[in-house]
Amino acid sequence: MNKRIVKFGVIGCGLMGREFASAVNRWGHLLNLGFSPQIVGVCDPNSNATEWFEDNIHSLKLVTHDYHELLKDKEIEAIYCAVPHHLHEQLYIDIINSKKHLLGEKPFGIDLKANQKILNVIEKHPDLVVRASSEFPFFPGGQIISKWIQEERFGKILNVEAGLLHSSDLDPNKKINWKRKIDFNGQYGCMGDLGLHVLHMPLRFGWIPKNVRAILSNIITKRTNDDGLMEECETWDNVTLLCEVEKEINSFPMVLNMKRIAPGHANTWYLTIHGTDFSCEYSTKQPKQIHFMEYRLGGNQSWQTMDVPYQSAYDSITGSIFEFGFSDSILQMWAAFIDEIVNRETMAQSFTCASPQEVSISHEVFTAALCSHLTGETVDLSKERESTWIG
Ligand SMILES: NC(=O)c1ccc[n+]([C@@H]2O[C@H](COP(=O)([O-])OP(=O)(O)OC[C@H]3O[C@@H](n4cnc5c(N)ncnc54)[C@H](O)[C@@H]3O)[C@@H](O)[C@H]2O)c1
Repeated sequence: MNKRIVKFGVIGCGLMGREFASAVNRWGHLLNLGFSPQIVGVCDPNSNATEWFEDNIHSLKLVTHDYHELLKDKEIEAIYCAVPHHLHEQLYIDIINSKKHLLGEKPFGIDLKANQKILNVIEKHPDLVVRASSEFPFFPGGQIISKWIQEERFGKILNVEAGLLHSSDLDPNKKINWKRKIDFNGQYGCMGDLGLHVLHMPLRFGWIPKNVRAILSNIITKRTNDDGLMEECETWDNVTLLCEVEKEINSFPMVLNMKRIAPGHANTWYLTIHGTDFSCEYSTKQPKQIHFMEYRLGGNQSWQTMDVPYQSAYDSITGSIFEFGFSDSILQMWAAFIDEIVNRETMAQSFTCASPQEVSISHEVFTAALCSHLTGETVDLSKERESTWIG
């Protein structure tokens, strides 16, 4: 098949930069796509970080310490950017102004103000596809739930719970990194890090929190740095948000958990939806299994467990009996991003990556959560509270 090649630059060659780039080398995994990405340029001020790309990405032509070099390159059509949060505002704005499509990492700006500045620039470039990275909905369990929502199976929603749970920070000897410092990660702490993953699907279903009561915890307040010295660990480790959602005539509670210290959980993303007609529970802890219960008037209340087939948004060579994993979700998300660049509204399937509007609502929720924790009150998201939140 003669495929349309979309040339990419990668800015930020750390953990996530490498994860994305390795997906290119697996592109043949996906079936029936008329497009293919090619990474031609990478940028990171740290030469150790770019070395892996030079060894593994054979289409690479440009390796630089200065991202402006990538933005000047006419060949590059789109950028994947994965840098610490304090850099999002400047870099994302420069990328969009250089007229390149952007798949940017969350939280898309270190705070609400930074996010709004990015949004203002996006609005001036409606021709560009700008999306935020959020791969978990591409797990087959996420895709099935999305289909069930579209089919309106749930009846009246009773309650929703969603979360992303990490646990490596339970170890007090784990060294400090930029994600534990306000200057680099922002006041949001773990909400900036984990929050969009938790909110992406609820927001996609139109479940926009009307208000929020938040409890934030900073549990381990000091960690050693690379020189063996103790440093202040400033950011929130764990956050629980209780939100009220109003959808049409239905109002229900939605609990959102973002935790860096959830004992035993290494990257567990979960979504529970209980409804009057249908309920489901899915967690990447057991990624093959989805639990669901259909209720018919007067009938038994009997939960079923199904092994979900290996089927995400895009078809692949993998047999349906095999297991789906994190790197598969990245591959699928990238396919959705490029499909949108190439095919726009005629893309092969309808589940797009997280939109700037969804990201913007996530910032409003996180900012309200900071305010709620500070005051101990429930914050009404429908009112303009921005100045209080930021102050
Ligand atoms: N989608 C996910 O599942 C997921 C997981 C982890 C992190 N993230 C997000 O990815 C982003 C990066 O996180 P990470 O874990 O990859 O961090 P990381 O520290 O591993 O990598 C960040 C890289 O950015 C580089 N960098 C710093 N300044 C730069 C500049 N001016 N130009 C180019 N590169 C620069 C650093 O040298 C480093 O190599 C963050 O926004 C984070 O929230 C997403």
